[in-house]
Amino acid sequence: MSILKEKKKIVLWASGNGTNVENIIRFFEQDAKVAVAGVFTNNPKAGVLQRAANYNVPTEVCSNTDFEQGSVNKLLAKYQPDLIVLAGFLRKIAPSTIAAYPNQIINIHPALLPNFGGPGMYGMRVHQEVVAAKAEKSGITIHYVTPHYDEGEIIFQATTAVSPEDTPKRLAAKVHQLEYEHYPNVIANLLSS
Ligand code: GAR
Repeated sequence: MSILKEKKKIVLWASGNGTNVENIIRFFEQDAKVAVAGVFTNNPKAGVLQRAANYNVPTEVCSNTDFEQGSVNKLLAKYQPDLIVLAGFLRKIAPSTIAAYPNQIINIHPALLPNFGGPGMYGMRVHQEVVAAKAEKSGITIHYVTPHYDEGEIIFQATTAVSPEDTPKRLAAKVHQLEYEHYPNVIANLLSS
């Protein structure tokens, strides 16, 4: 008799374009152990909604208040996620959500924390600051989410050199490549341990 194990479920949260979300969906599309159960966004106009729909992944649009005050928890409970994965999600998360999913919410930040993080530091702003500071390297940080922006325990970092010719846009492209390469594997490793 074969024992069929249920797949681990992940829910992806994003606020914008969603290229990381698409990359993660593609990575786990045929996976025997992990399924992307849904994509949540706070932005009804986010490109991520169409990207998820292209792969028939259910989507949920919630208000900023739902995310920030925790009423999203009710909806989230329907999905029973093993892991909540933030990929370009730009709102603060309610303490009640963090408490309901201890060490089960992770985020990716497009720089090497603890540098170039904190409130207001997201997306292209981060790359502008890194270039302006003439930093020699940047990269990605994957970390657990706590009530404080970008302060949770670091799970994984990868670096890329910043050359004098790099504009914020060029640096963003390099960092995105690192994100595509590593984020799905880090998720898979967390769920298998
Ligand atoms: C990613 O680079 C991600 O690291 C960043 O937003 C981008 C979203 O790109 N997240 C943050 O800045 C969070 N502080 P995408 O929509 O193409 O995946």
